[in-house]
Amino acid sequence: MTVDWRGRTILITGGSGGMGRATADLFLEAGGNVALADIDAQRLAAYGEANRAAGDRLLAVTADVTRVADCERMVAATLARFGQLDVLINAAGVWVEGPSDEATEAEWDRTIDINLKGTFFACRYAIPALEKTSGVILNIASDAGLLGNAGAAIYCASKGGVVLLTKAMARELAPRGVRINAICPCDVETPMLEFQAATYGGGDPDGYRKRLLSIYPQGDRARFVRPEEVAEFVFQMASPKLAPVTGAALSIDFGTTAGN
Ligand SMILES: NC(=O)c1ccc[n+]([C@@H]2O[C@H](COP(=O)([O-])OP(=O)(O)OC[C@H]3O[C@@H](n4cnc5c(N)ncnc54)[C@H](O)[C@@H]3O)[C@@H](O)[C@H]2O)c1
Repeated sequence: MTVDWRGRTILITGGSGGMGRATADLFLEAGGNVALADIDAQRLAAYGEANRAAGDRLLAVTADVTRVADCERMVAATLARFGQLDVLINAAGVWVEGPSDEATEAEWDRTIDINLKGTFFACRYAIPALEKTSGVILNIASDAGLLGNAGAAIYCASKGGVVLLTKAMARELAPRGVRINAICPCDVETPMLEFQAATYGGGDPDGYRKRLLSIYPQGDRARFVRPEEVAEFVFQMASPKLAPVTGAALSIDFGTTAGN
């Protein structure tokens, strides 16, 4: 039996990003109400334009998740439009890398504020509404939240934090009927990966991509995860039928974190 998403509401932060859009596509297709929150108003508008057929079922909220007031406002706007919240997906995030002894305070603050603080405060304001629907939170963490990644200490700290806040909240929210899980993908073909290769590839983005793929156990068959594959996983994990799954950090990473 498939879940009937009609009348249910999904709020996605980072909603105009690669994984956010792919996930929104699936929930819209399934008949759900989708609220997309993102700092990038232009890309939100472009998604709305491309999905005009969704009509009133699609809401765009320009929001900066580093601002606690914006986290509160995006939840309030979602409830004002749709009346309930069933799923919160935290997909807003940024990548940063480089030697730790060259890192700046600005890099630390931006990464931790978006990836970790933003995730926490989106949850914080969504919890009361999710309690009413026995809803679910899915936090997009990373394989870098499970294993140390040389040259990405700040990003790892942010995503490791997301994994552990997810587990702590799972214990806290279980008596209130709210589930929460972390999704931990490896490299996904999204604008973030393009940004990484362009910014940190030393002028050789293809070489950067090859270096990433060289640690995958698939050898010559290695490829990056597609955003649609993460979206499918998230969509399935949001199902109210998966009641026992809470507090998990679920890998979608071709086995890169499974061992050596
Ligand atoms: N792409 C990868 O390889 C990869 C791998 C593992 C985990 N992740 C994580 O998955 C999530 C989704 O990333 P993606 O690959 O779709 O990247 P993306 O860059 O396509 O999307 C990220 C979105 O977050 C938004 N955002 C950034 N700062 C924000 C802020 N302050 N407030 C609100 N929105 C903000 C961006 O505008 C963008 O739309 C991120 O948390 C990322 O860290 C990505």
